[in-house]
Formats: sequence, C-alpha cells, structure tokens
Amino acid sequence: MQRVLVTGGAGFVGSNIVRYLIHETPVHVTVLDALTYAGAWKTLEGLPASRLERVQGDIRDARIVDRLVARADAVIHCAAESHNDNSLRDPLSFISTNVMGTGVLLEACRTYDARFHHISTDEVFGDLPLEGEAAFTEATPYEPSSPYSATKAASDHLVRAWIRSFGLSATISNCSNNYGPWQHVEKFIPRQITNLVDGVRPRLYGDGLHVRDWIHARDHASAVWAIVEKGRIGETYLIGARGEMSNKEIAGLILAEFGRSPDDVEYVDDRPGHDRRYALDPSKIMAETGWAPETDMAAGMRETVQWYRDNEAWWRPAKAGVEKTYRAEGF
Ligand code: NAD
Ligand code: DAU
Repeated sequence: MQRVLVTGGAGFVGSNIVRYLIHETPVHVTVLDALTYAGAWKTLEGLPASRLERVQGDIRDARIVDRLVARADAVIHCAAESHNDNSLRDPLSFISTNVMGTGVLLEACRTYDARFHHISTDEVFGDLPLEGEAAFTEATPYEPSSPYSATKAASDHLVRAWIRSFGLSATISNCSNNYGPWQHVEKFIPRQITNLVDGVRPRLYGDGLHVRDWIHARDHASAVWAIVEKGRIGETYLIGARGEMSNKEIAGLILAEFGRSPDDVEYVDDRPGHDRRYALDPSKIMAETGWAPETDMAAGMRETVQWYRDNEAWWRPAKAGVEKTYRAEGF
C-alpha cells in the first residue's frame, strides 16, 4: 500500500492519524478536508511536504472525491461533524456530512476498487448503566441517542451494505472517547484545560458522574493502521484502552495540574439525552492484530494539559466564540 487518502485529516482524530502515518509508515498521505470550523492546515504544520498532499474540499463533492480516490490505494474516512452538542443545535448538517458524505466516498471506492476504512464511534451503541461492569462488544445492538450518533450509526450501516451488496473491501472501527493534542476547545477536556488557563472553573454537565472510556488519539491512530494492515475485510473492530473515568474524575486530574482542589468545579445544566456511561471491550482487535494501547492515562493527561499551555496560539482564536455559545445555553 503506497498512497492513503485521509478525509478530515485537518481535524483532531484525522491529524493524529496523519502524523502516525508519516512518522511510523512509509505511505504517502493525501488529506481531503473542507476546513470547517473544526479543521485547519495549521494542525498539520511541520510535516514534510514530500509525504503529504493537502486538498481543501468537501466529501459530498463527487468530482473531487472521485479524482482523489482514483489514485489512492486506501481511504481512511475521518471527516465528519463530530460534536454532540452541535448536533442538538443543527442536526441536518450532521445528516448531510456524515451520511451523504460517507455515501459519496463509498461510491467512489466502489468505482475505483479502493480499500475503505470507516472511522466510527462507540456512541452508536447508546449508553450503559452506571452500575456494573457491562461493556460494548462488536455484537452489541445499535441504539444511538443523539442526532450525531444516529448519523454515525447510519454511516456504519451504509458501509456494511456496500460490503455485502457490492463486495467493497472495507472495515469499520468504533472507538471510545479520544484525548490528546489538537482537539477542538468545544470538547470536554480541552474546554476545561483552557478554562483553567483563563482562571475559569471546569464546568460539569448535570451531576458530573457520567462515565467515558478514554483513549489517547495516538493509540487510536495505531489501532486504525493495525486494522488497515491486518484486519479482516468486512469486519468491525472496537477500539478502546479500558480507560473508564467519570467527568468529575477527569476534571480532578486537570485541576491537579493547575494546583487546585478536585472539588473546584461548577455544575451546569445537563446535556439533553446525555448518555450515562460508555465502556468497550477491545479484545477482538487485540487478539486479531496484536495491537495494544501504549499511553498511560495519567501521563497522557499531563502531556495534554502541557500541550494546551504551550500551544495557546493554536486554540485561542476559537475559545471566546465557543464559550459565548455555551453560556447562552446554560452550559
Ligand atoms: P473534528 O471535528 O475534530 O474533525 C472533523 C474534521 O472533518 C475537520 O477537519 C473538518 O474540517 C472535517 N470536515 C467536516 N465536514 C467535512 C466535509 N463535509 N468534507 C470534508 N471535511 C469535513 O472531529 P474528530 O473528533 O477528529 O472526529 C473525527 C472522526 O472520528 C469522526 O468520524 C468521529 O465520529 C470519529 N470519532 C471521534 C472520536 C473522538 O473522541 N473525537 C471518538 C471516536 C470516533
Ligand atoms: O465516545 C466517542 C465520542 O466521544 C465521539 O464519537 C465524539 O465525536 C466525541 O465528541 C466524544 O463525544 P462526547 O459527547 O462523549 O464528548 P464531549 O467531549 O462533548 O463530552 C465528554 C463528556 O463530558 C460528556 O459526558 C459531556 C461532558 N461535558 C462536556 C462538556 C463540553 C461536560 O461535563 N462539560 C462540558 O463542558
């Protein structure tokens, strides 16, 4: 495999995958990204131009998608509207990008016989009770809660249909919550770190006891490449690092980096339809590909806090607008 097309490569997960491909593999990478509010070329700064081509364009634009897929051996599809809170404000844009956009890419991959890997989320399975040890597996039925997760579920189903009906060479991964550098300040962890830089207390939705299963974006990237190289065509793999923590516990870790008490938080309104707990079992990808996460959560969080302290120029332009929108809604 020589040429890989990464959609959404100027966003958080996509840029971490692009960095992994450039640093850990010999492939040439083309990024197709519309550069919405969530994407920027500055996120890919420092990577060698000889290995990386950057194309601004929309995954719903069949002409540009066809041109790029025609010369790719594989497509890693990350482009999406990705934020649950935004999907409650403007659900139709999620249907358009996440469903139609995936459909356009699938048609191009069918035409040019390209290998397709679909990046999806554990949120397609809905949520789990706080009590108990239950975890999602590849066999868990789909039960998405938000417009965002419903559009991701729809796109997963499209990929399965193209595999079965057209014999497309495709795989799917459903990953848990990512953290790490280059995540937009609208998301939980960057929002609280950058709040604390500004002297504002972390803001927890509802009772703050909702649980997410955290993985470093670098480990997500290595898992995706393990699937592209060693995964079985037609299969789905769950990616996670067994990193369950409540939002209150995460806020405590961040507060500790600023030398503040773990209780120095503010409780705000709850997200409508807020999923209670995610947890997933990554046994299948580990057994079939030999992949394992490498980042220790405490060390990864320290490094992430430091990254936001060192890279204010990257996130500062978005901060005031994000906070204005949140505050207007009681968050
Ligand atoms: P993000 O919002 O940071 O980045 C999305 C990128 O897609 C941006 O660069 C944006 O410009 C681009 N994009 C949006 N619409 C586009 C369009 N129509 N055409 C071309 N490019 C477009 O999102 P993220 O957190 O990096 O998520 C990327 C993917 O990973 C999504 O599919 C998401 O469902 C999945 N995922 C994310 C996480 C997580 O915790 N962040 C976990 C599991 C799965
Ligand atoms: O599980 C994978 C998903 O993780 C991905 O598919 C999504 O693209 C990604 O955005 C993420 O979704 P979440 O909704 O879990 O992430 P978010 O960062 O928005 O919120 C994480 C938790 O923190 C969630 O329980 C809501 C809560 N929260 C969020 C914000 C922004 C707060 O308590 N306060 C906040 O200010």
